[in-house]
Amino acid sequence: MVRVDVVTALLAAATVAKAAIQVPEVVPGAYIVEYETDEDSAAFVDSINGEASLVKDLRFQLFKGASIKFKNVEEAKDLAAAVGEMPAVKNIFPVKRYSIPAYTVHSTGSAAVESIIAKRQAGGNDTFTPHLMTQVNKFRDAGITGKGIKIGIIDTGTDYLHPALGGCFGPGCLVSYGADLVGDAFNGKNTPVPDSDPLDNCNGHGTHVAGIIAAQSNNPYGIIGAADGVTLGSYRVFGCSGDVPNDILIAAYNMAYEAGSDIITASIGGASGWSEEPWAAVVSRIVAKGVPCVVSAGNDGSEGIFYASTASDGKLVTAIASVDNTLSPALLSNASFKVANGSSQSFGFTAGDPANWENVKLPLWAVSFNTTDPANGCDPYPDSTPDLSGKIVLVRRGTCTFVQKVTNAVAKGAKYVIFYNNVGGSNGVSAKVDGIQGVAMVTADTGVAWIKALQAGSEVVVSMPDPDTAPSFLANFENVNTPGYLSTYTSWGPTYEVEVKPQFSTPGGMILSTYPRALGSYGVLSGTSMACPLAAAIYALMINVRGTKDPKTLENLLSATAHPNVFQDGRTAYPILAPVPQQGGGLLQAWDAAHATTLLSVSSLSFNDTQHFTPVKTFDIQNTGKAAVTYSLSHKGAATAYTFLGGSITPDTFPNELDDSIASLSFSPSSVLVGPGETKTVQVTAVAPTGLDGKRLPVYSGYVALNASDGSSFSLPYLGVVGNMYDAVVLDTKQTLLSHTYSTTNAPVGPNITFTLPPPGHANETAYKNKTDLPKLLITLSMGSSLVHVDVVPLSNCSTAARNATTVLGTKTLGEIDEFPQRWNARGPTEVTFDGQLADGTFVPPGRYKLAVKALRIYGDASKQSDYDTAETVPFSVAYTALPKRSLVKGYSYRG
Ligand SMILES: *[C@@H]1O[C@H](CO)[C@@H](O)[C@H](O)[C@H]1NC(C)=O
Ligand SMILES: *[C@@H]1O[C@H](CO)[C@@H](O)[C@H](O)[C@H]1NC(C)=O
Ligand SMILES: *[C@@H]1O[C@H](CO)[C@@H](O)[C@H](O)[C@H]1NC(C)=O
Ligand SMILES: *[C@@H]1O[C@H](CO)[C@@H](O)[C@H](O)[C@H]1NC(C)=O
Ligand SMILES: *[C@@H]1O[C@H](CO)[C@@H](O)[C@H](O)[C@H]1NC(C)=O
Ligand SMILES: *[C@@H]1O[C@H](CO)[C@@H](O)[C@H](O)[C@H]1NC(C)=O
Ligand SMILES: *[C@@H]1O[C@H](CO)[C@@H](O)[C@H](O)[C@H]1NC(C)=O
Ligand SMILES: *[C@@H]1O[C@H](CO)[C@@H](O)[C@H](O)[C@H]1NC(C)=O
Ligand SMILES: *[C@@H]1O[C@H](CO)[C@@H](O)[C@H](O)[C@H]1NC(C)=O
Repeated sequence: MVRVDVVTALLAAATVAKAAIQVPEVVPGAYIVEYETDEDSAAFVDSINGEASLVKDLRFQLFKGASIKFKNVEEAKDLAAAVGEMPAVKNIFPVKRYSIPAYTVHSTGSAAVESIIAKRQAGGNDTFTPHLMTQVNKFRDAGITGKGIKIGIIDTGTDYLHPALGGCFGPGCLVSYGADLVGDAFNGKNTPVPDSDPLDNCNGHGTHVAGIIAAQSNNPYGIIGAADGVTLGSYRVFGCSGDVPNDILIAAYNMAYEAGSDIITASIGGASGWSEEPWAAVVSRIVAKGVPCVVSAGNDGSEGIFYASTASDGKLVTAIASVDNTLSPALLSNASFKVANGSSQSFGFTAGDPANWENVKLPLWAVSFNTTDPANGCDPYPDSTPDLSGKIVLVRRGTCTFVQKVTNAVAKGAKYVIFYNNVGGSNGVSAKVDGIQGVAMVTADTGVAWIKALQAGSEVVVSMPDPDTAPSFLANFENVNTPGYLSTYTSWGPTYEVEVKPQFSTPGGMILSTYPRALGSYGVLSGTSMACPLAAAIYALMINVRGTKDPKTLENLLSATAHPNVFQDGRTAYPILAPVPQQGGGLLQAWDAAHATTLLSVSSLSFNDTQHFTPVKTFDIQNTGKAAVTYSLSHKGAATAYTFLGGSITPDTFPNELDDSIASLSFSPSSVLVGPGETKTVQVTAVAPTGLDGKRLPVYSGYVALNASDGSSFSLPYLGVVGNMYDAVVLDTKQTLLSHTYSTTNAPVGPNITFTLPPPGHANETAYKNKTDLPKLLITLSMGSSLVHVDVVPLSNCSTAARNATTVLGTKTLGEIDEFPQRWNARGPTEVTFDGQLADGTFVPPGRYKLAVKALRIYGDASKQSDYDTAETVPFSVAYTALPKRSLVKGYSYRG
């Protein structure tokens, strides 16, 4: 058993900004109600005695309900429970907010007319690299463009006035249907202002997505949508910035479905890992009605294995992973420089943040002339450094952060820094350091040439334009680091119930597409957000060729014909296939999928964990061709990925430790003759790899390979877990503790301290907000938990409160704190402040308490005490500030 050595990748060609973990937030007082049958929503809301207002009518063919907001947020939980008991109500769940997975904008064009018209695609054939990588070019070359197919996009809207996106909105236009569900000013928290116009002129994400699917070729850079004959529906669910709540998402999905979308795509998500989560469940329902739904897998690859994102983790929902483009395109702003008294020459740069470059004309200065030093500029500059306020500092990218390098330059007076790249291409740079006016990046070649001139003693004077108005041009660089490999940021599955996620991948790293005219017209972006729309376009091409849009048939074909790739950590490739939890079936090969005459009945297999091991699986092989075909079955193992490092309860981060031990698979029969029009069943029997430490939850995976006598070949991804998911500790008791809101580091409080809380129900008023130190409970889940309880345990036996306590799952409790229990939780930390309020809306009386946290183990039984991991806080006392005299006391009551 050879361990595969993997080093941590520092700089992948396509990186995405590492954002805070995006665990969806609950919106206070807001709920989604689903009716048993149908109701008039206004009448329904009246029937709850005016306790709630109607936020959004959600009455659709596949979902009948409403989102409502309880007028009294403090009592919402209690009222929601009562509403849930009403005969008319099938389901009630809290509104949560989701975000666009953190993506990277590498470069954008400028408002100026581009000065170079790039070569049109030679000979009319498609040479766009994301298309070459996925065989999409073959459809275009054959004149298949997705004609007649409607793709609904749920995103930030579309700049349909962009000439490459049709220039108009409505029937007959490229963007022919859709709506704005929110308005520009919406941020996920304020009131949406819907209208019929889904224009995106301030965000950009949705405009980039739309171009990947359907950009027209009338643009200077040779961008072509993968299915530029489709019509698009644009459902705008984000304002210019911020999040989207799931009631808006549910509405948008249903509107897109009812408008007759043949395919629905969304590059939106939030950490979950549970396919039962309500938004994911609604998307599953639409797929079950025959509309393929693709959702980006998420950009949390750095979190390692078991970090699937909702709604891509839903049952039947197709989760799209990302690979990096073989080219690194960059949109560079045109500027000029002079060496000594030579003539002016032009160069391209990528503006960073900040970018106050307008009319900056200064000589370059470099701390070192070594153009291969990986850590150039990482150390403080020597004492001999001159005043740099009249210079532009030139420094090589690498090793330490941009911020550190800029900080060192600023310490010597610099106001401007230009980085030269240490890999191909050029990227946006962010280094908002006090005192810096402008940062930018140039290519390695440009930087090295300048250093050589400086070293020769020449002065190099650079004239920078305002990047917002300077002409820009496209430069394509070979991606020498990560071409075609899985993007390091792509999120890993499987779900916590060992369902295979993601399904397959398309190029999403370093993608050139359209961007709002107001933001530069074109942009190079990276993320699974950029992969997902290409998959949606491929579904359209598939529907054109095969004449069916059945989601299962198409997913099975795409998975069976996709090409798995070897593992690469951002720098080094390893001679073993990347785990299925990272790449699913592999990179789509759309032409092969569209023309395959072999159909498998499944898209993947899961053998589950050791406790629920189902070693024998069957699937069908259907031959729709005109001749008999013999299929011989074999097995290709992929790298096994350990979930935990030895002795740790928290999953390892990217790249998880890999091992080359693989399962053994046997097939019955191992060779099968399938006549034309016939279907045969084969049986797969798995023996999990041995010699692995089950406590570390190694996830093994690989492919059933089918080699057909007609020369075609197929592969079916599978995965399984050695060890028991149930045995994984889900609650990190060391990181579950009582802190206080004044602590920014979540320092634990000692026992027996007294919190003097605002008067019940007043915690969020300005008189108290931020002016009172509240108990803050930090809960850290080391693995996902489908149910987390937080009980308030009274500690003084003689108090009235204690007499009123009940015992639930072995815990003496006054009730759960507000917003609990919580369902379908991803792993990671959560902070909860306690203002004395219980989930039923009442407040605990003054007294001594501790908080008891219970997190249900994976596959645990929610009614069994022993299936929870538990932690208790130190004891603390609660007192309340008296209300100022004369203020009206609302009807809040202590319980007990
Ligand atoms: C850059 O600008 C110069 C004039 O300053 C012009 O001659 C050159 O063609 C431009 N290059 C590009 C690539 O736009
Ligand atoms: C365009 O593609 C077609 C079909 O693959 C091929 O026959 C033709 O030679 C290609 N033309 C050029 C100019 O490459
Ligand atoms: C630049 O100017 C210096 C003197 O000012 C002169 O010696 C040199 O030859 C000039 N170089 C060029 C390339 O014109
Ligand atoms: C440049 O720096 C690297 C790393 O410090 C060093 O190995 C190399 O010898 C240096 N090259 C020159 C020409 O000094
Ligand atoms: C694994 O087994 C559990 C328990 O029976 C089940 O809930 C889960 O759905 C199974 N997962 C798969 C992928 O079959
Ligand atoms: C906290 O209070 C309890 C009960 O009064 C007492 O037994 C315990 O010693 C106290 N702990 C500390 C650290 O003061
Ligand atoms: C604060 O309380 C008021 C009054 O109950 C309520 O309207 C508001 O929504 C609350 N805000 C938050 C953030 O809970
Ligand atoms: C109060 O808290 C909010 C949210 O935590 C924060 O944004 C704000 O700056 C704080 N205000 C003061 C005065 O501390
Ligand atoms: C228990 O709580 C209920 C209300 O929740 C209250 O009416 C009753 O008086 C309480 N009993 C005691 C012993 O505190």
